[in-house]
Amino acid sequence: MIAKTFSATVLGIDAHLIEVEVDVSVGMSVFNIVGLPDGTIKESRDRILSAINNSGFSFPVRKIVVNLAPAPLRKIGSGFDLPIALALLGTMGIFPPENLSRAMVVGELSLDGEIRPVRGVLPVAIATREHKLEHLILPKANDAEAAVVDSIKRVPVSTLFEVVQFLCGDLEIKPIEYDPQSIFTQEQNYEEDFQDVKGQEHVKRALEVAAAGSHNLLMLGPPGSGKTMLARRMSTILPELSFDEALECTKIHSIAGLLPSGAALIARRPFRFPHHTISQGGLVGGGSIPGPGEISLSHNGVLFLDEFPEFPRATLELLRQPLEDGRLTISRAAMSLEFPCSFMLLASMNPCPCGYHGAPSGQGENRRECNCAPQQIQKYRSKISGPLLDRIDLHLTVPAVEYDKLAEKRQGESSGTIRGRVVQARQIQQKRFRNSSTRNNAGMTRRELNMYSEPSDDSRKLLEQAMTRMGLSARAHDRILKVARTIADLADSMNVETQHVAEAIQYRNLDRPI
Ligand SMILES: Nc1ncnc2c1ncn2[C@@H]1O[C@H](COP(=O)(O)OP(=O)(O)O)[C@@H](O)[C@H]1O
Ligand SMILES: [Mg+2]
Ligand SMILES: [Zn+2]
Repeated sequence: MIAKTFSATVLGIDAHLIEVEVDVSVGMSVFNIVGLPDGTIKESRDRILSAINNSGFSFPVRKIVVNLAPAPLRKIGSGFDLPIALALLGTMGIFPPENLSRAMVVGELSLDGEIRPVRGVLPVAIATREHKLEHLILPKANDAEAAVVDSIKRVPVSTLFEVVQFLCGDLEIKPIEYDPQSIFTQEQNYEEDFQDVKGQEHVKRALEVAAAGSHNLLMLGPPGSGKTMLARRMSTILPELSFDEALECTKIHSIAGLLPSGAALIARRPFRFPHHTISQGGLVGGGSIPGPGEISLSHNGVLFLDEFPEFPRATLELLRQPLEDGRLTISRAAMSLEFPCSFMLLASMNPCPCGYHGAPSGQGENRRECNCAPQQIQKYRSKISGPLLDRIDLHLTVPAVEYDKLAEKRQGESSGTIRGRVVQARQIQQKRFRNSSTRNNAGMTRRELNMYSEPSDDSRKLLEQAMTRMGLSARAHDRILKVARTIADLADSMNVETQHVAEAIQYRNLDRPI
Protein backbone atom coordinates (compact mmCIF):
# COMPACT_ATOMS: atom_id res chain seq x y z
CA MET A 1 0.00 0.00 0.00
CA ILE A 2 1.36 3.38 -1.01
CA ALA A 3 0.38 6.83 0.22
CA LYS A 4 1.87 10.17 -0.70
CA THR A 5 1.91 13.81 0.16
CA PHE A 6 4.05 16.88 -0.44
CA SER A 7 6.56 18.75 1.61
CA ALA A 8 9.36 21.19 0.81
CA THR A 9 12.99 21.83 1.48
CA VAL A 10 14.49 25.29 1.64
CA LEU A 11 17.68 25.85 -0.31
CA GLY A 12 19.02 29.37 -0.39
CA ILE A 13 15.91 31.41 0.17
CA ASP A 14 13.41 29.38 -1.84
CA ALA A 15 11.43 26.27 -0.99
CA HIS A 16 11.58 23.35 -3.40
CA LEU A 17 8.73 20.88 -3.67
CA ILE A 18 9.43 17.36 -2.40
CA GLU A 19 7.15 14.41 -2.95
CA VAL A 20 6.92 12.17 0.11
CA GLU A 21 5.96 8.62 -0.79
CA VAL A 22 5.53 5.82 1.74
CA ASP A 23 5.27 2.17 0.80
CA VAL A 24 4.32 -0.37 3.42
CA SER A 25 4.53 -4.03 2.54
CA VAL A 26 4.70 -7.39 4.19
CA GLY A 27 8.23 -8.37 5.08
CA MET A 28 10.93 -7.93 7.62
CA SER A 29 10.30 -5.01 9.94
CA VAL A 30 12.42 -2.15 8.58
CA PHE A 31 11.99 1.59 8.31
CA ASN A 32 14.11 3.06 5.53
CA ILE A 33 14.20 6.62 4.23
CA VAL A 34 15.72 6.97 0.77
CA GLY A 35 16.36 9.98 -1.47
CA LEU A 36 19.43 11.77 -0.15
CA PRO A 37 18.16 12.69 3.29
CA ASP A 38 20.62 14.51 5.55
CA GLY A 39 21.39 13.37 9.10
CA THR A 40 18.56 15.27 10.77
CA ILE A 41 15.99 13.47 8.61
CA LYS A 42 17.38 10.07 9.56
CA GLU A 43 16.88 11.01 13.20
CA SER A 44 13.26 11.61 12.45
CA ARG A 45 12.64 7.84 12.26
CA ASP A 46 12.76 7.56 16.05
CA ARG A 47 10.55 10.59 16.55
CA ILE A 48 7.96 9.34 14.05
CA LEU A 49 7.80 5.92 15.64
CA SER A 50 7.29 7.30 19.16
CA ALA A 51 4.89 10.02 18.05
CA ILE A 52 2.65 7.52 16.24
CA ASN A 53 2.61 5.10 19.14
CA ASN A 54 1.98 7.87 21.66
CA SER A 55 -0.90 9.34 19.67
CA GLY A 56 -3.06 6.24 20.00
CA PHE A 57 -2.07 4.52 16.74
CA SER A 58 0.23 1.58 16.37
CA PHE A 59 3.36 1.76 14.31
CA PRO A 60 3.16 -1.02 11.71
CA VAL A 61 5.53 -3.96 12.08
CA ARG A 62 6.14 -4.17 8.34
CA LYS A 63 8.62 -3.25 5.70
CA ILE A 64 8.43 0.52 5.39
CA VAL A 65 10.18 2.49 2.66
CA VAL A 66 9.97 6.26 2.55
CA ASN A 67 11.02 7.88 -0.70
CA LEU A 68 11.75 11.59 -0.90
CA ALA A 69 11.72 12.77 -4.51
CA PRO A 70 13.35 14.20 -6.57
CA ALA A 71 16.32 12.23 -5.26
CA PRO A 72 19.18 14.57 -6.26
CA LEU A 73 17.81 17.54 -4.33
CA ARG A 74 19.28 18.02 -0.84
CA LYS A 75 16.65 17.64 1.85
CA ILE A 76 17.26 19.48 5.04
CA GLY A 77 15.63 19.80 8.41
CA SER A 78 13.16 18.29 10.78
CA GLY A 79 10.09 19.48 8.90
CA PHE A 80 9.71 16.09 7.18
CA ASP A 81 8.61 14.32 10.41
CA LEU A 82 4.98 15.22 9.96
CA PRO A 83 4.54 14.49 6.24
CA ILE A 84 6.26 11.11 6.63
CA ALA A 85 4.18 10.20 9.68
CA LEU A 86 0.97 11.21 7.93
CA ALA A 87 1.73 9.33 4.71
CA LEU A 88 2.51 6.29 6.84
CA LEU A 89 -0.84 6.57 8.63
CA GLY A 90 -2.39 7.06 5.18
CA THR A 91 -1.20 3.61 4.12
CA MET A 92 -2.97 2.13 7.14
CA GLY A 93 -6.33 3.38 5.97
CA ILE A 94 -6.87 5.58 9.02
CA PHE A 95 -8.15 8.38 6.78
CA PRO A 96 -8.87 8.54 3.03
CA PRO A 97 -5.39 8.91 1.44
CA GLU A 98 -6.75 11.31 -1.19
CA ASN A 99 -7.31 13.87 1.60
CA LEU A 100 -3.55 13.98 2.00
CA SER A 101 -2.26 13.52 -1.52
CA ARG A 102 -2.70 17.16 -2.60
CA ALA A 103 -1.50 18.75 0.64
CA MET A 104 1.73 20.50 1.54
CA VAL A 105 2.85 19.35 4.99
CA VAL A 106 5.63 20.61 7.28
CA GLY A 107 6.26 20.12 10.98
CA GLU A 108 8.58 18.51 13.48
CA LEU A 109 7.20 15.88 15.83
CA SER A 110 7.99 15.49 19.49
CA LEU A 111 8.00 12.01 20.96
CA ASP A 112 4.55 12.48 22.45
CA GLY A 113 3.00 13.54 19.15
CA GLU A 114 3.05 17.31 19.51
CA ILE A 115 3.93 19.39 16.48
CA ARG A 116 6.80 21.77 16.83
CA PRO A 117 7.57 24.86 14.75
CA VAL A 118 10.11 24.68 11.94
CA ARG A 119 12.21 27.22 10.06
CA GLY A 120 11.43 28.61 6.66
CA VAL A 121 7.64 28.34 6.66
CA LEU A 122 7.15 31.51 4.64
CA PRO A 123 8.97 30.16 1.54
CA VAL A 124 7.04 26.90 2.00
CA ALA A 125 3.77 28.83 1.99
CA ILE A 126 4.84 30.59 -1.19
CA ALA A 127 5.61 27.19 -2.78
CA THR A 128 2.17 25.92 -1.73
CA ARG A 129 0.58 28.69 -3.72
CA GLU A 130 2.91 28.26 -6.70
CA HIS A 131 2.16 24.55 -6.98
CA LYS A 132 -1.57 25.09 -6.40
CA LEU A 133 -1.73 22.54 -3.59
CA GLU A 134 -5.02 22.19 -1.76
CA HIS A 135 -3.86 23.15 1.70
CA LEU A 136 -0.87 23.74 3.88
CA ILE A 137 -0.75 21.67 7.06
CA LEU A 138 1.69 23.42 9.36
CA PRO A 139 2.66 23.89 13.03
CA LYS A 140 0.36 26.28 14.81
CA ALA A 141 3.33 28.32 16.03
CA ASN A 142 4.23 29.08 12.41
CA ASP A 143 0.74 30.10 11.35
CA ALA A 144 1.24 33.87 11.43
CA GLU A 145 4.32 33.51 9.26
CA ALA A 146 2.41 31.67 6.52
CA ALA A 147 -0.54 34.02 6.79
CA VAL A 148 1.07 36.73 4.68
CA VAL A 149 0.70 34.51 1.63
CA ASP A 150 -2.86 34.93 0.45
CA SER A 151 -5.05 32.48 -1.45
CA ILE A 152 -3.78 29.33 0.26
CA LYS A 153 -5.76 27.26 2.77
CA ARG A 154 -3.87 26.99 6.04
CA VAL A 155 -4.40 24.16 8.49
CA PRO A 156 -2.49 25.09 11.66
CA VAL A 157 -2.16 22.09 13.98
CA SER A 158 -0.62 21.29 17.33
CA THR A 159 -0.78 17.49 17.63
CA LEU A 160 -0.56 14.53 15.30
CA PHE A 161 -3.91 13.30 16.59
CA GLU A 162 -5.51 16.59 15.64
CA VAL A 163 -4.28 16.36 12.01
CA VAL A 164 -5.59 12.82 11.71
CA GLN A 165 -9.01 14.00 12.92
CA PHE A 166 -8.88 16.75 10.34
CA LEU A 167 -7.96 14.34 7.54
CA CYS A 168 -10.77 12.02 8.60
CA GLY A 169 -13.16 14.93 8.19
CA ASP A 170 -14.05 14.87 11.90
CA LEU A 171 -12.50 18.17 12.83
CA GLU A 172 -12.72 21.56 11.24
CA ILE A 173 -9.65 23.73 11.68
CA LYS A 174 -10.01 27.45 11.17
CA PRO A 175 -6.87 29.52 10.86
CA ILE A 176 -6.81 32.91 12.53
CA GLU A 177 -7.59 35.70 10.10
CA TYR A 178 -4.70 38.05 9.49
CA ASP A 179 -4.64 41.09 7.34
CA PRO A 180 -1.05 41.26 6.14
CA GLN A 181 -1.44 44.79 4.82
CA SER A 182 -2.65 46.16 8.13
CA ILE A 183 0.02 44.27 10.10
CA PHE A 184 2.49 45.75 7.69
CA THR A 185 1.30 49.30 8.27
CA GLN A 186 1.01 48.88 12.05
CA GLU A 187 4.49 47.56 12.51
CA GLN A 188 6.28 50.19 10.52
CA ASN A 189 6.92 52.51 13.44
CA TYR A 190 10.34 52.66 14.99
CA GLU A 191 11.12 53.10 18.66
CA GLU A 192 14.15 55.25 17.98
CA ASP A 193 13.98 58.65 16.36
CA PHE A 194 16.51 61.25 15.30
CA GLN A 195 14.76 63.85 17.39
CA ASP A 196 16.41 62.29 20.48
CA VAL A 197 19.83 63.23 19.18
CA LYS A 198 20.87 66.66 20.45
CA GLY A 199 23.13 68.88 18.39
CA GLN A 200 25.39 67.06 15.91
CA GLU A 201 23.69 68.86 13.04
CA HIS A 202 26.46 68.25 10.54
CA VAL A 203 26.60 64.56 11.46
CA LYS A 204 22.87 64.19 10.92
CA ARG A 205 23.21 65.96 7.63
CA ALA A 206 25.86 63.47 6.49
CA LEU A 207 23.66 60.54 7.52
CA GLU A 208 20.85 62.07 5.49
CA VAL A 209 23.15 62.32 2.47
CA ALA A 210 24.19 58.69 2.94
CA ALA A 211 20.57 57.57 3.18
CA ALA A 212 19.57 59.62 0.16
CA GLY A 213 22.16 58.10 -2.18
CA SER A 214 22.49 54.76 -0.41
CA HIS A 215 26.15 55.47 0.31
CA ASN A 216 28.09 53.40 2.81
CA LEU A 217 29.42 55.46 5.67
CA LEU A 218 32.18 55.31 8.27
CA MET A 219 32.03 57.34 11.47
CA LEU A 220 35.18 58.35 13.32
CA GLY A 221 34.80 59.69 16.82
CA PRO A 222 35.84 59.37 20.44
CA PRO A 223 33.99 57.00 22.78
CA GLY A 224 30.69 58.40 23.94
CA SER A 225 30.26 60.79 21.05
CA GLY A 226 27.04 59.05 20.05
CA LYS A 227 28.14 56.89 17.12
CA THR A 228 26.10 53.89 18.21
CA MET A 229 23.12 56.08 18.99
CA LEU A 230 23.27 57.64 15.53
CA ALA A 231 23.76 54.34 13.73
CA ARG A 232 20.72 52.83 15.42
CA ARG A 233 18.60 55.57 13.91
CA MET A 234 19.84 55.13 10.38
CA SER A 235 17.08 52.75 9.30
CA THR A 236 14.46 55.25 10.48
CA ILE A 237 15.37 57.72 7.73
CA LEU A 238 15.51 55.24 4.88
CA PRO A 239 12.40 54.98 2.70
CA GLU A 240 9.77 52.68 4.20
CA LEU A 241 9.99 49.06 3.15
CA SER A 242 7.68 48.12 0.33
CA PHE A 243 5.49 45.07 0.90
CA ASP A 244 7.63 43.00 -1.46
CA GLU A 245 10.83 44.05 0.29
CA ALA A 246 9.21 43.15 3.60
CA LEU A 247 8.36 39.69 2.26
CA GLU A 248 11.95 39.23 1.14
CA CYS A 249 13.31 40.19 4.58
CA THR A 250 10.77 37.97 6.30
CA LYS A 251 11.77 35.02 4.14
CA ILE A 252 15.41 35.38 5.14
CA HIS A 253 14.56 35.70 8.84
CA SER A 254 12.16 32.78 8.58
CA ILE A 255 14.89 30.56 7.14
CA ALA A 256 17.36 31.63 9.80
CA GLY A 257 14.76 30.81 12.45
CA LEU A 258 14.90 34.40 13.64
CA LEU A 259 11.33 35.56 13.24
CA PRO A 260 10.02 36.69 16.60
CA SER A 261 7.40 34.10 17.60
CA GLY A 262 3.96 34.96 16.31
CA ALA A 263 5.39 37.61 13.99
CA ALA A 264 3.87 37.69 10.55
CA LEU A 265 6.09 40.12 8.78
CA ILE A 266 9.32 42.06 9.18
CA ALA A 267 7.91 45.48 8.39
CA ARG A 268 10.83 47.66 9.44
CA ARG A 269 14.17 47.92 7.73
CA PRO A 270 16.53 45.50 9.42
CA PHE A 271 19.33 46.88 11.57
CA ARG A 272 21.98 44.26 12.32
CA PHE A 273 24.74 44.86 14.78
CA PRO A 274 27.16 41.90 14.93
CA HIS A 275 30.03 41.96 17.42
CA HIS A 276 33.59 41.97 16.09
CA THR A 277 34.18 38.47 17.46
CA ILE A 278 31.67 37.08 14.94
CA SER A 279 32.88 34.15 12.82
CA GLN A 280 33.27 34.48 9.09
CA GLY A 281 30.35 32.12 8.54
CA GLY A 282 28.23 34.12 10.97
CA LEU A 283 28.87 37.28 9.05
CA VAL A 284 28.51 36.18 5.45
CA GLY A 285 26.57 32.96 5.89
CA GLY A 286 27.59 29.38 5.40
CA GLY A 287 27.80 26.12 7.21
CA SER A 288 27.78 22.71 5.56
CA ILE A 289 24.23 23.46 4.55
CA PRO A 290 24.51 27.15 3.80
CA GLY A 291 22.20 29.47 5.67
CA PRO A 292 21.96 33.25 5.71
CA GLY A 293 24.54 35.28 7.64
CA GLU A 294 24.37 38.79 9.09
CA ILE A 295 24.85 40.39 5.67
CA SER A 296 21.70 38.66 4.40
CA LEU A 297 19.78 39.34 7.58
CA SER A 298 20.49 43.02 6.93
CA HIS A 299 19.22 42.74 3.35
CA ASN A 300 17.19 45.88 2.52
CA GLY A 301 18.44 47.44 5.72
CA VAL A 302 21.55 48.46 7.61
CA LEU A 303 24.58 46.45 8.68
CA PHE A 304 26.42 48.26 11.48
CA LEU A 305 29.99 47.24 12.21
CA ASP A 306 30.97 48.98 15.42
CA GLU A 307 34.70 49.15 16.23
CA PHE A 308 35.44 48.44 12.61
CA PRO A 309 39.23 47.88 12.93
CA GLU A 310 38.63 45.22 15.60
CA PHE A 311 37.08 42.88 13.03
CA PRO A 312 39.69 40.48 11.66
CA ARG A 313 40.91 41.68 8.32
CA ALA A 314 40.07 38.39 6.62
CA THR A 315 36.47 38.72 7.81
CA LEU A 316 36.16 42.25 6.47
CA GLU A 317 37.59 41.22 3.12
CA LEU A 318 34.64 38.86 2.68
CA LEU A 319 32.38 41.89 2.50
CA ARG A 320 33.83 43.05 -0.78
CA GLN A 321 31.91 40.84 -3.19
CA PRO A 322 28.55 41.25 -1.42
CA LEU A 323 29.01 45.02 -1.26
CA GLU A 324 29.63 45.07 -4.97
CA ASP A 325 26.91 42.64 -6.10
CA GLY A 326 24.17 42.89 -3.48
CA ARG A 327 24.05 39.12 -3.35
CA LEU A 328 26.24 36.31 -2.20
CA THR A 329 26.88 32.99 -3.86
CA ILE A 330 27.94 30.13 -1.63
CA SER A 331 29.28 27.10 -3.45
CA ARG A 332 29.40 23.67 -1.94
CA ALA A 333 30.26 20.38 -3.58
CA ALA A 334 26.61 19.47 -3.90
CA MET A 335 25.12 22.82 -4.79
CA SER A 336 25.52 26.51 -5.27
CA LEU A 337 23.16 28.79 -3.43
CA GLU A 338 22.40 32.45 -3.66
CA PHE A 339 21.45 34.77 -0.83
CA PRO A 340 20.39 38.36 -1.37
CA CYS A 341 22.37 40.86 0.69
CA SER A 342 21.78 44.36 -0.52
CA PHE A 343 22.50 46.37 2.61
CA MET A 344 23.85 49.72 3.60
CA LEU A 345 27.12 49.45 5.47
CA LEU A 346 27.62 51.69 8.48
CA ALA A 347 30.87 51.39 10.33
CA SER A 348 32.37 53.21 13.26
CA MET A 349 35.81 53.50 14.76
CA ASN A 350 37.90 55.56 17.10
CA PRO A 351 40.10 58.03 15.25
CA CYS A 352 43.22 56.55 16.91
CA PRO A 353 44.14 53.83 19.42
CA CYS A 354 43.39 56.05 22.46
CA GLY A 355 40.25 57.42 20.86
CA TYR A 356 40.84 61.16 21.24
CA HIS A 357 42.83 62.19 18.18
CA GLY A 358 41.50 65.39 16.69
CA ALA A 359 39.04 65.95 19.54
CA PRO A 360 38.77 69.63 20.40
CA SER A 361 40.55 69.98 23.72
CA GLY A 362 37.64 70.47 26.09
CA GLN A 363 37.57 72.37 29.32
CA GLY A 364 38.00 71.17 32.89
CA GLU A 365 37.25 67.53 33.40
CA ASN A 366 36.29 66.94 29.78
CA ARG A 367 39.77 67.71 28.60
CA ARG A 368 41.31 64.74 26.86
CA GLU A 369 44.49 64.79 24.87
CA CYS A 370 45.61 62.23 22.34
CA ASN A 371 49.11 60.92 22.97
CA CYS A 372 49.28 58.54 20.06
CA ALA A 373 52.25 58.83 17.72
CA PRO A 374 51.41 59.37 14.05
CA GLN A 375 52.84 55.93 13.19
CA GLN A 376 50.54 54.32 15.76
CA ILE A 377 47.55 56.10 14.26
CA GLN A 378 48.66 55.09 10.78
CA LYS A 379 48.97 51.46 11.82
CA TYR A 380 45.58 51.50 13.49
CA ARG A 381 43.85 52.94 10.44
CA SER A 382 45.62 50.65 8.01
CA LYS A 383 43.76 47.70 9.53
CA ILE A 384 41.04 48.57 7.09
CA SER A 385 42.17 47.71 3.61
CA GLY A 386 42.11 50.16 0.75
CA PRO A 387 39.79 48.09 -1.44
CA LEU A 388 37.21 47.91 1.33
CA LEU A 389 37.58 51.58 2.08
CA ASP A 390 36.94 52.13 -1.62
CA ARG A 391 33.38 51.01 -1.13
CA ILE A 392 32.72 53.56 1.58
CA ASP A 393 31.78 56.93 0.13
CA LEU A 394 31.60 58.98 3.31
CA HIS A 395 34.05 59.18 6.21
CA LEU A 396 32.66 61.36 8.88
CA THR A 397 34.07 62.85 12.04
CA VAL A 398 31.70 62.67 14.99
CA PRO A 399 32.94 65.03 17.69
CA ALA A 400 31.87 64.67 21.30
CA VAL A 401 28.68 66.63 21.96
CA GLU A 402 29.19 69.82 23.87
CA TYR A 403 27.62 69.81 27.30
CA ASP A 404 25.29 72.75 26.71
CA LYS A 405 23.91 71.06 23.58
CA LEU A 406 23.13 67.91 25.58
CA ALA A 407 21.34 69.95 28.23
CA GLU A 408 19.15 71.65 25.62
CA LYS A 409 15.45 70.90 25.93
CA ARG A 410 14.71 71.54 22.27
CA GLN A 411 14.20 68.39 20.23
CA GLY A 412 16.01 67.88 16.98
CA GLU A 413 14.38 67.26 13.63
CA SER A 414 12.31 64.07 13.54
CA SER A 415 13.21 61.00 11.51
CA GLY A 416 9.97 61.39 9.56
CA THR A 417 10.92 64.86 8.32
CA ILE A 418 14.38 63.73 7.28
CA ARG A 419 12.95 60.63 5.61
CA GLY A 420 10.66 62.85 3.54
CA ARG A 421 13.68 64.55 1.96
CA VAL A 422 15.47 61.23 1.49
CA VAL A 423 12.46 59.82 -0.36
CA GLN A 424 12.36 62.81 -2.70
CA ALA A 425 16.04 62.44 -3.54
CA ARG A 426 15.52 58.73 -4.16
CA GLN A 427 12.66 59.48 -6.54
CA ILE A 428 14.95 61.67 -8.61
CA GLN A 429 17.42 58.77 -8.80
CA GLN A 430 14.71 56.31 -9.76
CA LYS A 431 13.90 58.48 -12.74
CA ARG A 432 17.54 58.97 -13.62
CA PHE A 433 18.30 55.24 -13.61
CA ARG A 434 15.03 54.00 -15.05
CA ASN A 435 16.79 52.38 -18.00
CA SER A 436 19.77 51.08 -16.07
CA SER A 437 20.39 48.32 -13.57
CA THR A 438 21.84 50.98 -11.26
CA ARG A 439 19.45 51.83 -8.46
CA ASN A 440 21.02 54.79 -6.76
CA ASN A 441 23.90 57.27 -6.93
CA ALA A 442 26.21 55.06 -4.88
CA GLY A 443 25.94 52.38 -7.54
CA MET A 444 26.74 54.61 -10.53
CA THR A 445 29.09 53.20 -13.14
CA ARG A 446 31.99 55.24 -14.52
CA ARG A 447 29.92 56.14 -17.54
CA GLU A 448 26.95 57.22 -15.47
CA LEU A 449 29.23 59.26 -13.28
CA ASN A 450 30.51 61.15 -16.31
CA MET A 451 26.99 61.61 -17.59
CA TYR A 452 25.26 62.75 -14.43
CA SER A 453 27.92 64.20 -12.21
CA GLU A 454 29.92 66.38 -14.57
CA PRO A 455 31.41 69.11 -12.40
CA SER A 456 31.32 72.72 -13.57
CA ASP A 457 34.65 74.44 -14.29
CA ASP A 458 34.61 76.04 -10.87
CA SER A 459 33.91 72.78 -9.07
CA ARG A 460 36.61 71.06 -11.06
CA LYS A 461 39.07 73.68 -9.88
CA LEU A 462 37.94 73.20 -6.32
CA LEU A 463 38.32 69.46 -6.62
CA GLU A 464 41.84 69.79 -8.04
CA GLN A 465 42.80 72.11 -5.24
CA ALA A 466 41.44 69.72 -2.67
CA MET A 467 43.35 66.85 -4.15
CA THR A 468 46.66 68.68 -4.15
CA ARG A 469 46.36 70.87 -1.08
CA MET A 470 44.64 68.41 1.22
CA GLY A 471 46.51 65.49 -0.24
CA LEU A 472 43.32 63.59 -1.08
CA SER A 473 43.98 60.28 -2.74
CA ALA A 474 42.98 59.58 -6.31
CA ARG A 475 40.32 57.15 -5.26
CA ALA A 476 38.62 59.96 -3.38
CA HIS A 477 37.89 61.75 -6.64
CA ASP A 478 35.04 59.55 -7.89
CA ARG A 479 33.59 59.08 -4.42
CA ILE A 480 33.36 62.84 -4.02
CA LEU A 481 31.55 63.22 -7.32
CA LYS A 482 29.04 60.50 -6.42
CA VAL A 483 28.28 62.06 -3.08
CA ALA A 484 28.11 65.51 -4.70
CA ARG A 485 25.45 64.14 -7.07
CA THR A 486 23.37 63.04 -4.07
CA ILE A 487 23.81 66.40 -2.37
CA ALA A 488 22.62 68.08 -5.56
CA ASP A 489 19.59 65.74 -5.63
CA LEU A 490 18.73 66.69 -2.06
CA ALA A 491 18.79 70.30 -3.21
CA ASP A 492 16.72 69.38 -6.27
CA SER A 493 19.47 70.75 -8.49
CA MET A 494 19.99 69.54 -12.04
CA ASN A 495 23.68 70.39 -12.00
CA VAL A 496 26.37 69.50 -9.55
CA GLU A 497 27.43 72.91 -8.30
CA THR A 498 30.51 74.07 -6.44
CA GLN A 499 28.82 74.05 -3.05
CA HIS A 500 27.77 70.43 -3.57
CA VAL A 501 31.32 69.38 -4.35
CA ALA A 502 32.62 71.44 -1.44
CA GLU A 503 30.33 69.63 0.98
CA ALA A 504 31.24 66.21 -0.42
CA ILE A 505 34.95 66.97 0.06
CA GLN A 506 34.32 67.37 3.79
CA TYR A 507 33.24 63.76 4.01
CA ARG A 508 36.61 62.28 3.03
CA ASN A 509 38.31 62.35 6.39
CA LEU A 510 40.40 59.24 6.09
CA ASP A 511 41.99 60.46 2.88
CA ARG A 512 43.65 63.33 4.66
CA PRO A 513 47.11 63.07 6.10
CA ILE A 514 47.10 62.55 9.87
N1 LIG B 1 23.95 63.94 20.53
C1 LIG B 1 23.47 63.28 21.59
N2 LIG B 1 22.23 63.55 22.05
C2 LIG B 1 21.73 62.89 23.10
N3 LIG B 1 22.41 61.94 23.78
C3 LIG B 1 23.65 61.62 23.37
C4 LIG B 1 24.23 62.26 22.24
N4 LIG B 1 25.46 61.74 22.06
C5 LIG B 1 25.64 60.80 23.00
N5 LIG B 1 24.55 60.73 23.81
C6 LIG B 1 24.38 59.85 24.96
O1 LIG B 1 25.61 59.20 25.21
C7 LIG B 1 25.45 57.80 25.20
C8 LIG B 1 26.67 57.12 24.60
O2 LIG B 1 26.67 57.27 23.21
P1 LIG B 1 27.11 56.11 22.23
O3 LIG B 1 26.24 56.19 21.06
O4 LIG B 1 27.20 54.84 22.92
O5 LIG B 1 28.59 56.63 21.88
P2 LIG B 1 29.72 55.89 21.05
O6 LIG B 1 29.08 54.76 20.31
O7 LIG B 1 30.26 56.94 20.15
O8 LIG B 1 30.73 55.44 22.04
C9 LIG B 1 24.19 57.55 24.42
O9 LIG B 1 23.52 56.40 24.81
C10 LIG B 1 23.36 58.76 24.71
O10 LIG B 1 22.62 58.58 25.89
MG1 LIG C 1 29.52 52.73 20.48
ZN1 LIG D 1 45.09 58.84 20.39
